[in-house]
Amino acid sequence: SAAEKGGYDHFMLKEIAEQPRAVADTLLGRIDGAGRLTLDEVRIPGSVLREADKVVIIACGTAFHAGLIAKYAIEHWTRIPCEVELASEFRYRDPILNRRTLVIAISQSGETMDTLMALRHAREQGAKVLAVCNTNGSTIPRESDAVLYTHAGPEVAVASTKAFLTQLVACYLLALYLGQVRGTKWGDEIHAVVRELARIGDEVERVLETMEPVRALARSLAHKDTVLFLGRHVGYPVALEGALKLKELAYMHAEGFAAGELKHGPIALVEEDLPVVVVVPSPKGRSVLHDKIVSNIQEIRARGARTIVIAEEGDEAVVPYADHLIRIPATPTLLQPLVSTVPLQVFACELATARGNEVDQPRNLAKSVTVE
Ligand code: AGP
Repeated sequence: SAAEKGGYDHFMLKEIAEQPRAVADTLLGRIDGAGRLTLDEVRIPGSVLREADKVVIIACGTAFHAGLIAKYAIEHWTRIPCEVELASEFRYRDPILNRRTLVIAISQSGETMDTLMALRHAREQGAKVLAVCNTNGSTIPRESDAVLYTHAGPEVAVASTKAFLTQLVACYLLALYLGQVRGTKWGDEIHAVVRELARIGDEVERVLETMEPVRALARSLAHKDTVLFLGRHVGYPVALEGALKLKELAYMHAEGFAAGELKHGPIALVEEDLPVVVVVPSPKGRSVLHDKIVSNIQEIRARGARTIVIAEEGDEAVVPYADHLIRIPATPTLLQPLVSTVPLQVFACELATARGNEVDQPRNLAKSVTVE
């Protein structure tokens, strides 16, 4: 009913708007005043976390994209090798698992059969399984060794939005916690990340306040057949997520690519007026990466692409090559997905509406996939 949707036309719009709160709730009580992680709820003994020699993340769909981003944070902050695998592929390739493997199963619903079967397989091989889940008491946390709940609140729309952002937050917290338990030195970078996490809800709110041009752009592209998404580093999974949202909501052909792969094939797809969304990493810190993506934007634009550029405030280098420029607040490199995903959600939702699609219940899809 309209009341359940809190005055919004769709649950998805309500859930997009709830993201600042969802993110703040997921952080609540988990970082103390001194910037230390307080995740006692993760009931896996410190000895197990210290001795783990590999992390394996299993998930499906949007949760898998959260896992792809988590890998960058886990490896960078903890130096433990981390693999990310689609849950549906995992057990069929006889993966190498043992008592020193920490498996993280990410699931909004906690009922996804592919993820459940993968975690059962992992436990049979002796691995410890930690669930990142949004649904209290659901099957995946019940069958795991421990759980870190995301506090997004109920997500009703089939397309995942606030659950994704809170999965990212939970994974960042876990990565920092693993680092803390294993004695990673708390340098300036980690202090900056912890400080930024405390503010990130406000940054998401700021992004939400500037979405009108994104909606107008989406409406103007409603007649298109294809949209491409490019990103690098943590922006690459964000590109995949932007494409998935467009497929499920707008029923458009959408693909996400690592921008560095363009020249290895995908650039052949670029033709006159093809919309290409580019997620640009921060010009600070990893400036080499930034320069490379700026040349990618130039290359596709020279071939006629209509460039839709998502870039940090203050990033002036992209301005000459952006047909449409979407600004996001500057954040530490690894946290950028928390803000860069938001315009992509709004874009897909508005395109679906403009194309007359059912936003909350896209055709052929179920909110939780309880068959393998
Ligand atoms: C997201 O928009 C999708 N509807 C879908 O990919 C979803 O993320 C996937 O099915 C996993 O669901 P889960 O998080 O409940 O396990």
